[in-house]
Amino acid sequence: MGTYEENWEKMSDKSKDLERARQSFIEEFEAINWYEQRIEGTGDPELKKILEHNRDEEKEHAALLFEYVKKNDPEQADALKKSDL
Ligand SMILES: [Fe+2]
Repeated sequence: MGTYEENWEKMSDKSKDLERARQSFIEEFEAINWYEQRIEGTGDPELKKILEHNRDEEKEHAALLFEYVKKNDPEQADALKKSDL
């Protein structure tokens, strides 16, 4: 799974699920970046609108995953509170 390099089989189920969520979060952000590049690159207004819609859906997906991580990783939730964001 993802870029994990230790023994996956020895990880707890909870750690595996957090790894899945974090890796999916990374992939959603990569997708947002790809859509941003294509939105700025295209000269076709119709395609631009479709790409913007898709980018915004990826942002929603990323938000759902981050909420999952916050809910299941107390240290991450504390770090977020301390950041004052
Ligand atoms: Fe997505």
